[in-house]
Amino acid sequence: MKFLVLNGPNLNLLGQREPGVYGAESYESLCARLKTFAHAHGAEVEFVQSNHEGALIDAIHAAQGVYDAIIFNPGAFTHYSYALLDALKAVSVPAVEVHISNVHRREEFRRVSVTAPACVGQVCGLGLYGYEAAMGYFLEAQP
Ligand code: DQA
Repeated sequence: MKFLVLNGPNLNLLGQREPGVYGAESYESLCARLKTFAHAHGAEVEFVQSNHEGALIDAIHAAQGVYDAIIFNPGAFTHYSYALLDALKAVSVPAVEVHISNVHRREEFRRVSVTAPACVGQVCGLGLYGYEAAMGYFLEAQP
């Protein structure tokens, strides 16, 4: 199993950005933690983070035939990027959407995900563990 962990805008600032919402762990520390998790399960993982919508679209296109699953936190693009929705629909690599925070307990606009309909499912509010939960789905629970 080979995972692409794809993170959208502002997630490079994890640890510095609103730590009360997103926690104190850095993006680099998240990647290290997910690498350890993947290897412990005999899986491989690679990481892409971009603050640019087009780069995220390119990464989704390039995932076709390379990765078995995408673990995707689209950041604020979640709430309005039909281009990312279309990109997810254009490839056959399954994705699970992850949000570190509980988007349903925050501002109204965060309750809407335009990208989730193209995903197998969505994890939110579980902090950084949500990425492991999403990977665990593909490793253990997927029929
Ligand atoms: C987020 C939630 C989004 O609303 C926000 O714009 C983010 C992070 C999360 O992981 O909780 O950038 O996707």
